[in-house]
Amino acid sequence: MLAAIVSTSPLVLPHSQLRLSITMIYALLLALTYAQLVYSGTLQRRAVAFFNPNDGGGSELDSVGGGLGEPLNVIISGLSSPAVLTDSGSLNYARSIGFSTECLGIHLGDPQSANLGDGNGFVNQTIELRQDYGDVDLGTCLESLIGGNHFRIYRQNGPLANSGALFLAVSQEEDESQGHDIVPDGYNIGRNALVNTAVQGSSFGGVTYKTTAQNISGLLQPGSTGVNHGIATDGIVTLLTVTIV
Ligand SMILES: *[C@@H]1O[C@H](CO)[C@@H](O)[C@H](O)[C@H]1NC(C)=O
Ligand SMILES: *[C@@H]1O[C@H](CO)[C@@H](O)[C@H](O)[C@H]1NC(C)=O
Repeated sequence: MLAAIVSTSPLVLPHSQLRLSITMIYALLLALTYAQLVYSGTLQRRAVAFFNPNDGGGSELDSVGGGLGEPLNVIISGLSSPAVLTDSGSLNYARSIGFSTECLGIHLGDPQSANLGDGNGFVNQTIELRQDYGDVDLGTCLESLIGGNHFRIYRQNGPLANSGALFLAVSQEEDESQGHDIVPDGYNIGRNALVNTAVQGSSFGGVTYKTTAQNISGLLQPGSTGVNHGIATDGIVTLLTVTIV
């Protein structure tokens, strides 16, 4: 289309107007290039789902200290819609599947850290979210009392493995009287509950999500070796690809 404008312009426009129109075409091209740069700089779709943390000296267990960790049993794929992988986008997605930030911003327990083999070494969780029992403002207070599902998010974005994927440590907790430990089989139960809700489709804040799930073995060793609370897992990590529709 631009080629057509350039080639027909000299025939119909006097010299001064021709120069003007060529200037305008340059301006338009510059604007388009700039828009493309801005777009790719912020929300470009990623090229890979994730990198195996074990390949880069990391682990599919996070760290709670003392050589123990909790399984990173759900991964939100780097091939998801780019907005889902941002801090605000992942929070909105979490809300769409029944989780919210902790009760009145009160944090229970220390942050955990993870080494996702991306060259960043151990990095603290970006956020911790709890089942909100249908109330994004106060429901997590209920979770703190009666227990429920919860997860921590880590982002794989270091220089050696920049997939943008989010690694989630999901587990089902006891109630407060049990000191907020994980229920028996709580890692598998928490993962399955989150995934089962997610694949039904969800929406929050005017954004609607379609989620597909795929189980992956070989990232996480089955059993309880090195696992916090000595609770065994089946070794399955579920990869979620989340698309904004
Ligand atoms: C994680 O956060 C805690 C508390 O803010 C801090 O003491 C610790 O150094 C952090 N760890 C890492 C790996 O950044
Ligand atoms: C993944 O594995 C879990 C546990 O065995 C199972 O319940 C679930 O249906 C599987 N999901 C998929 C998508 O294969």
